[in-house]
Amino acid sequence: MSETLLRDGLAQTTLHPLGLRVSHAQGSRITLENGKEIIDFISGIGASSFGHGHPEIVKAIHTQVDKHLHVMVYGEMRQRAQDEAARQLLQLMPDNLNSVYFVNSGAEAIDAAMKLVRRVTNRRKIIAVTGGYHGNTFGALSVSSNAERKAPFAPLVGDIDLIEWNEMHGLRAIDASVAGVIVETIQGDAGIRIPDAAWLQAIRKKCTQVGAHLVLDEIQCGFGRTGCPFAFEHFGIVPDHLCLGKALGGGMPMGALVSNKNYLQQFAHSPSLGHITTFGGHPVPCAASAVASCLLKEIDWDRVEHVGAMIESNLKSCNQVHSIRRKGLYIAVELENSEAVNNVVQSALANGVLIFYFLSTPSAFRIAPPLNINDNDLNEAIDTLKRCIKRCSS
Ligand SMILES: Cc1ncc(COP(=O)(O)O)c(C=O)c1O
Repeated sequence: MSETLLRDGLAQTTLHPLGLRVSHAQGSRITLENGKEIIDFISGIGASSFGHGHPEIVKAIHTQVDKHLHVMVYGEMRQRAQDEAARQLLQLMPDNLNSVYFVNSGAEAIDAAMKLVRRVTNRRKIIAVTGGYHGNTFGALSVSSNAERKAPFAPLVGDIDLIEWNEMHGLRAIDASVAGVIVETIQGDAGIRIPDAAWLQAIRKKCTQVGAHLVLDEIQCGFGRTGCPFAFEHFGIVPDHLCLGKALGGGMPMGALVSNKNYLQQFAHSPSLGHITTFGGHPVPCAASAVASCLLKEIDWDRVEHVGAMIESNLKSCNQVHSIRRKGLYIAVELENSEAVNNVVQSALANGVLIFYFLSTPSAFRIAPPLNINDNDLNEAIDTLKRCIKRCSS
């Protein structure tokens, strides 16, 4: 055990946490207590997409902290920070997604979507997809795919069937008994798997035909990560419900279920308070999120693609790299095996670059730098990674 968090009263999520002690973080760099600087090439697992401590986000947080913190359970008191976060976010959405329910995390947004599709359709069955990862609450775990990670916590939520990722034959399972289909537009934990547009379009069509609702999980792949505001824009489809989290909060904890007013309204009655959370829509994350949505509107998408292509071509030049899957700055680098991945992750860290593992894809590592990473940090990270890959996995 590298660092005994338990000794300090903190639960550990693994038996071998990195145990790095953070002093401060700015832009793409995290500074440790011992003075060492690390380039964050994963944006806090896709959460700090505008870099750490973005000055406009920090300013909005300070301003809100000076006004008020939590005052009352979501929905009972109008709070300008919530209004503004919703207004800025919905400006980015297609017409049918005209209402938002703020929660505290991605998994909570998934749970809310699962409840909503059952409530609205009055059906029970939910279809999810192999390779999907949706979070760790009971609901989110139930629609996730990794059987090993689910088994110890069974029984999970019932009436959930998995269909094969990117396989047309699975669509037969979407029939008039189905409340909703939940799918990551681009799978993250499965190692950045990009589906065929025809498959997602066929799911969309089938859902419409049989009256099932399409829920897209863009908690990780949304909010700019794939080179446009939302990943569904690449595929020419629009979901009935969209789950967001991570980068949505600009570095603060926040999730959201974006849907149609007519659907979300149904949480308000029969029973009333059909989905409540004390801290959902907390004014401080909302203040940060409103700025994050503004920043998303100003991103230079050509540069995002240029940065992604540069990372891809540089790493591809290493013989040890088997393949790279990439959309925008959502990147998986496939090596020979998990040992090679572990060597590269550890050596990159020792040399000042943070990349990381996938939970369910041991032969690849993830890269997801801040969307606005500067050239200096980018070049340094690429050079370091190339050296580590060549040295470690040969
Ligand atoms: C695609 C996807 N959905 C849901 C979640 C769960 O989000 P959270 O960890 O905020 O609950 C994650 C987290 O990594 C994710 O990648």
